[in-house]
Amino acid sequence: MTEPRLVGPAELEEERALDVTLRPRRLDDFVGQPAVREQLQILLEAAQGRGEALDHVLLYGPPGLGKTTLAQIIAGEMGVTMRPTSGPAIEHQGMLASILTNLGDGDIFFIDEVHRLSRTVEEALYPAMEEFSFDWVAGKGASAQALRLELKRFTVVGATTRAGALGGPLRDRFGITFRLDFYDAGELTAIVRRSAGLLRIAVDDAGAELIAARSRGTPRIANRLLRRARDFAQVRAAGRIDAAVAAESLAVLGIDETGLDELDRRVLGVLCRAYAGRPVGLGTIAVSVSEDPDTVEDVVEPFLIRLGFLVRTPQGRLATAGAYRHLGEPVPSGVPGAAGAQSSLFAS
Ligand SMILES: Nc1ncnc2c1ncn2[C@@H]1O[C@H](COP(=O)(O)OP(=O)(O)OP(=O)(O)O)[C@@H](O)[C@H]1O
Ligand SMILES: [Mg+2]
Repeated sequence: MTEPRLVGPAELEEERALDVTLRPRRLDDFVGQPAVREQLQILLEAAQGRGEALDHVLLYGPPGLGKTTLAQIIAGEMGVTMRPTSGPAIEHQGMLASILTNLGDGDIFFIDEVHRLSRTVEEALYPAMEEFSFDWVAGKGASAQALRLELKRFTVVGATTRAGALGGPLRDRFGITFRLDFYDAGELTAIVRRSAGLLRIAVDDAGAELIAARSRGTPRIANRLLRRARDFAQVRAAGRIDAAVAAESLAVLGIDETGLDELDRRVLGVLCRAYAGRPVGLGTIAVSVSEDPDTVEDVVEPFLIRLGFLVRTPQGRLATAGAYRHLGEPVPSGVPGAAGAQSSLFAS
């Protein structure tokens, strides 16, 4: 995923390294998502009991909620090797063939950004996922030979930030689909405590709760804010993070009480100020805030929708009364959530 918020390239590197350090390895260490955890536990036990590979799994949800983490946990719990790649990285069928033929029995083939597979690679993947064979034309011209390669019984774990962008035929080939949702404050507090323990950061209860409450429901952001608060505490507060230190460090980062950052507020500003009360298309929003439309759609909007600040309508995006109030702007009549607004505006 592209992640522009708060982080430059060097910090992104550092953050990826932190992701790896803090990633839970076992299902028991995975905090939250109780429905997903329970179902996965049953599927893993059933597959292991039968001595079979797991069915293909599709994971979807906004960035930073634990898709890659879960893929690794699945591989770890099944005791198999994970071969990670991403949709755009598989450039042609030959690359796919070489990966598939190297997979062992039960291995996990992790495809991040699975909605970005090319059409030809995606079509070659269908029979591989269904029949565990791969049709391959070796050589060129008159000497070309059609071969059928037999594959081991592997498991595809696909991850995507948008299930909607996945074609029906590909989606249908995943036997199991898990949707990851934003985490609640209690779960995020547990994640902050766990990470603080692993990184040997001193944080008190109130400090951990404050960081959790402002993490946009997202474990990766909770970890990022914890690290920033630690830097702040080191310089200003003898290394210990309490509520006051956490609040100050978040203020410096431009994160408000709801967890919204500058980009979130800029998007709301476009809707509430520049186009007050009128539906706005995704492309227009993206241009107005100088961001990629994918970033606005995948990173910014899901949390604003979750907060009830934004709705998608057939005509475009609309800010709700709550968004206007959050920005301290007068609420125009007729916007969703305003007194007398039509409930049909909520349809998306
Ligand atoms: N349930 C969880 N419990 C504890 N930590 C978690 C959990 N989910 C995610 N994390 C933490 O958040 C970090 C980001 O998670 P992960 O990389 O799995 O997200 P992702 O969904 O794959 O994101 P992206 O869409 O950007 O690839 C992990 O490294 C881990 O430290
Ligand atoms: Mg990931």
